[in-house]
Amino acid sequence: MSENPSPEILKFPEGFLWGLGTSAYQVEGGSLNSQWCEFEKAGGIRTGEASGRACNWWEDAERDFDLAQAIGINSLRLSVSWARIEPEEGIFNPAAIERYRRMLSALIMRNIRPMVCLHHFAHPVWFEKKGAFLARTCVDDFTRFVNFTVSELGDLCSDWLTINEPNVYAVTGYLDGAHPPALHGHIADYFNVLVNMALCHARAYHAIHRLQQNAMVSFANHFIIFTEAKSQLFDRLAARIASDAFNNVFINMIAGKKGPPFTGLNRYLEQVKDTWDFIGVNIYGGVDVAFDITKPGMGFTKRLTPKNGRTGDLTSTGKAMFGEIYPQGIKIVVEKLAKFNRPFFILENGVPDRADTLRPWVIATAVKTMHDLIRKGQHILGYHHWTLVDNFEWTFGYSMRFGLVELDPATQARQPRRSAAFYAAIIKENGLTPDLLRKYAPDALHEIFPASH
Ligand code: BGC
Repeated sequence: MSENPSPEILKFPEGFLWGLGTSAYQVEGGSLNSQWCEFEKAGGIRTGEASGRACNWWEDAERDFDLAQAIGINSLRLSVSWARIEPEEGIFNPAAIERYRRMLSALIMRNIRPMVCLHHFAHPVWFEKKGAFLARTCVDDFTRFVNFTVSELGDLCSDWLTINEPNVYAVTGYLDGAHPPALHGHIADYFNVLVNMALCHARAYHAIHRLQQNAMVSFANHFIIFTEAKSQLFDRLAARIASDAFNNVFINMIAGKKGPPFTGLNRYLEQVKDTWDFIGVNIYGGVDVAFDITKPGMGFTKRLTPKNGRTGDLTSTGKAMFGEIYPQGIKIVVEKLAKFNRPFFILENGVPDRADTLRPWVIATAVKTMHDLIRKGQHILGYHHWTLVDNFEWTFGYSMRFGLVELDPATQARQPRRSAAFYAAIIKENGLTPDLLRKYAPDALHEIFPASH
């Protein structure tokens, strides 16, 4: 990286991508035809809310693109809705493509490079009815959709994510039942879904590269920092199982190392091997893990929020969504995966924090952690904070607020939080200074610049 002009400025390399992450179902509004719409109607949202207009992007994403431009980002992660593009199997909707073309052009006009994710939790009802990622036909279905979408949008975008968080999709759908199809303890399905998602990802990866020589293609993996609750054998084992079955399982397939147990993936490893141009990291928190004999459906593991950990807002049942909010975990993940020799992109990181009290510390700590890693020679292409405007937080509806900008879903009024100005200032500086911390995140000042006062 470039010479650091003064130890008091944590400068980033020229061309570093400062961005924000979003997803279609959470921001577009007016969604139809996806399994999440059905789930909403069936009462799946804990707050009883409906996504409704969300952030109204289907009608006016440009309003938020103006806000993004004012913050100064040069990369925005969004997703396209498969349910809009292919509402019936094999039948594509030109109007949906037209709208996405206008959205991508609007970003480019604002000097913001789009990164498009092709599957972010939601998909068409017809696909769900066929068994979604449990049916082997999923590979042909997903590839057909990807081929069509990338052919239509490829002149406006070259950064692609095939699938967001296969591990979260599979846990919430098949182990803890929080997301559709809301099944509990289906361990075999959990691994089979992951295997099929790996096959979908790999076929999509090659399809995109055939259409676009210069494409950058990967997927986003969610990482949780798992620590044993007590230093005793069973808890250590539980932490190891949690880490292997959640953090590493998909990565191990794509790295061509091994497939999950009893799934037969090892036969297909050659097909999925090395289908990533960068390593996409979503990371929010860390939990303590204890062995729990009463939880066979969760691999005999129980997750606990570390005592005195920073948590962000608690859910209505008093739980911390991600355990302890732990942006320092970026270091653990990057150093562990450096052996795969791919650049990194931090694709999600943030905190539910309506009052914006913890978010500045989270941003500052993430930036400092990435700077340390880059200084030590790690290749990090960019950072996407989650998220631009408060949005529909899946089963938590509008109760959990991750935005740099506050949203009133009823009136659609927006109010930037202080973190928006802080992030804007970091981007303008292309780095972090003690003055910025004094102004926006004084609680992080001494951790980051110990010599400052
Ligand atoms: C998901 C996002 C979600 C965020 C915060 C991630 O796991 O990809 O869609 O909003 O977490 O919960």
